[in-house]
Parts: sequence; C-alpha cells; structure tokens
Amino acid sequence: MTSDLERLFEHLRFPSISTDSRHAGDVQANAQWLKAQFVEMGLEAELHETPGHPVVLARNEKVEGLPTVLIYGHYDVQPVDPLELWDSPPFEPEVRDGKIWGRGGADNKGQHFVHMLGAEKTIQEEGKLPLNVIFLIEGEEEIGSPNLVPFLKEHLDELACDIIAVSDTGMVAPGVPTLGYGLRGITCLDVTVKGPAGDLHSGVYGGCVANPASAAARLIASLHHDDGSIAVEGFYDDVIALEDWEREMWAQVPGTSNEEILASIGSPEPFGEPGYTMAEQLWARPTVEVNGMGGGYQGEGSKTVIPAEAMFKLSCRLVPGQDPDKVQAQVEEHLRKMLPRGVTIEIDKGHSGKAYHNDPHSRYGKAAQAALKRSFGREPVLIREGGSIPIIQDMKEILGADSLMLGLALPGCQIHAPNENYAVENFERGIEMSRALLKELSKI
Ligand code: BES
Ligand code: MN
Repeated sequence: MTSDLERLFEHLRFPSISTDSRHAGDVQANAQWLKAQFVEMGLEAELHETPGHPVVLARNEKVEGLPTVLIYGHYDVQPVDPLELWDSPPFEPEVRDGKIWGRGGADNKGQHFVHMLGAEKTIQEEGKLPLNVIFLIEGEEEIGSPNLVPFLKEHLDELACDIIAVSDTGMVAPGVPTLGYGLRGITCLDVTVKGPAGDLHSGVYGGCVANPASAAARLIASLHHDDGSIAVEGFYDDVIALEDWEREMWAQVPGTSNEEILASIGSPEPFGEPGYTMAEQLWARPTVEVNGMGGGYQGEGSKTVIPAEAMFKLSCRLVPGQDPDKVQAQVEEHLRKMLPRGVTIEIDKGHSGKAYHNDPHSRYGKAAQAALKRSFGREPVLIREGGSIPIIQDMKEILGADSLMLGLALPGCQIHAPNENYAVENFERGIEMSRALLKELSKI
C-alpha cells in the first residue's frame, strides 16, 4: 500500500503550471491521475475538457434527502521562477523539518488532497459517505478560472449542492484552526506608457522630450496619498465598513498582531491607510498595488538612452461592496487624468473577480467550526482573507451555495514563491478535519 504522503508526492510531481503552454501536457496528465485516484476511492469520476485545462468531477451515488457538499480545489500551480532560489527542486517533493517542500504543496494540491483522503478513509471504515459529496477540482484557478463559469452554468443540475467546502486559504499560526469567512476580490490593469517612436540618445535628445519611464513613475506615485491611502477618486465609495464585532474578534487572533506580521515578513514598519491594524487592512480594506514595472536599460553598467516605452502592471484587491468593473474604470480614469505631458498610455484591462463573504455563525459555519475544533483540539479563529479565489463568489451567484474556507496554509508557506511548503501536521490533521466535516455536515 502506498502511504498517504507518497500519494501526495505523486500529485506534487506533476508540473501542472496552468499559465505556461509548454506544460499543457503535464496539466492534462495530472487531471488524468486525479480522475484515477477518485475511481480508486470508489467514486464515479469524469474528466471534462474545456477550451483550456480539464475540470475533474467526482461523486458518490446520490441519495435523495441527504445534504450535498461540493468540495472545490485546484490542481494547477504557479510558475516556479526564479528556480535558483529553491533549496530543493520544485517538482521533486521531500520532507524536511516537518514540512513538505515543493510547488503545489500548500496551493493547492496538499490542501484538497486531505479531503480526498478524508472521504476515502470514511468509505473504507464506514462503507459509505454520510452525505452526498461532489468533488470539483479545476486546472485554471491560477489564471483566473476563465472556463469555470461557463462550466458551472452548463452543469447546474449536476452541481446542485447545499454547501461548498474549500481548503485553499491560510491558517493563522501552527495548531490554530482557522475558518475563513471572506475573501478579497481582484481587478488587474496593464499599462504601457509611450513616448517617442523609438529609443533615443539621452544626450542628443535629453531634456526636450518627455521620458516614458519618468511618466510611468509619476503615474504610479499618483495612486496613493503620502499616508498610504488610495488617491483614486471614488475608490472607497462602495466599501462596506468592517464591523465592531469583527475588529474585537480579530484583535484576539493569535499570530496576527502588527508586530507578529512584521516579524514574519521581515518588514520594518506598517504602511497604508491610517486607523487600521495590518490584519484589518489585509482582511477588510481595498488596495492598489504595483506588481511589476519596467522600461529602459536593465543590464550591467550604464546606457544613455531615453526609452520609447515603459510599462507597469497593477492589481487592486477589493472588498465587499466594490464592483470590479467600476473600480477598473475609476483607476483608468485616474491614470488618464494624471497623465503627464508628452506621453500617451495604453491600458489593457485584465481579469477580475468579486470579493466574497458569508456568515461564519450559520449552521454550516458552525459545522465547520466543530470539525476544526475536533481535529485540531482547540476553538477555531474566524478571519477574512487577503487573497482571492474569484470562483467562490461566482459559485455563490450561480449555484446559490456558500463556501466554508478551512485553511491549512501556514504563514511562511511561500505560496507563489520559491520554497513553497506545507506542514506535515496540517496534512495529517487535515485528513481528520475533512472526516469530521463530512460527519458534521451530514447532521444538518
Ligand atoms: N489559494 C490562493 C488564494 C489565497 C491564498 C487565499 C492564501 C487566501 C489565503 C489562490 O490560489 C490564489 O493565488 N489566487 C490568486 C487570484 C487569481 C485570480 C490569480 C490571488 O489571490 O492572487
Ligand atoms: Mn495561488
């Protein structure tokens, strides 16, 4: 018998990088492997092709009158560059210091696999699952799930469910079970700033022509006030304020004081909107961030040139109340209004997703809390998340079901970065959590 860990390693060895077309075959092979795992567990499983990467669906035999839980996850992963910063190869998983090292360990293979093992062990020990279970594991989460909304709409009846369970978020500290009841939304913009028709000698032409790199820097700088708040007109208009009970509750959450967050990320001091703790900013306030910027000479030594173009990439994290399209338009309008003389801009609007939140004290929320408590041996904390999983709000709108977010990724897990890792303890307890969750949900 292959051990649970060895089976997770098989999953982690597929370089299922969804954004990189050279890996399309690996993504497909990973989907096939997943389907075979579900079949081995005794579930009915199908692989659904899409215009992009396949969706894997699996389910037990539906029993009328029992509640249905849909368990969502994603088997695609982020690129691994810069490769030289990994201490061990990203697709050759290994255990060191109680952690599983490798791309996808935490985001998201190691997290959804606990639910597969939880269901499998339940079937092995009890003969069947105590409720209707649908697994939906997609291959395009890291590129914004472009084909999943149409898929949901085409399979409405098949995907009908009462509640969704997702482990694709964080746990605030080791041993502190964490139920997420909110996610930020996102909207992205790519900006190109154009000046002269071609690169120019900075002596022959310097001083009499606008420099696109300087213009890009001015535009970027114009997005925030000196105190860190956002200067885009109307940006905060629709933001739903965080509530007093949340602030009071969050103040008690271990591992999330300003000092602890600063220590864990190696930053000297907090930044951003006055009047909020770092955790409050992360979980309940919107942002505009520069994700990349460039233009001009980047090589060794100096090169005297005025670049013809410069670029920057922005993403905004959104909170409940904000509409991604409206925010995208507000940012575009701001950039056009602030555009320095002598350059033009092109703006490509990127992908978007709405924020999500639910009531952690609903009967489903209580079931999730009970499962977390049972498996981790202490009362869970309730938080919102800074990250985004746009399909969660789409599923709310299309399937009408809320999502319980039972996060298992610890601070320092390095998702999207070199040396991604996942605690062996969370893998083991996660399997127990999943089993407890199935039980708790079956009682509703
Ligand atoms: N699992 C993450 C999101 C996440 C991580 C939520 C930690 C909460 C805590 C997910 O795979 C992800 O990376 N999402 C992207 C959004 C997507 C549209 C590219 C993100 O948040 O940047
Ligand atoms: Mn991710």
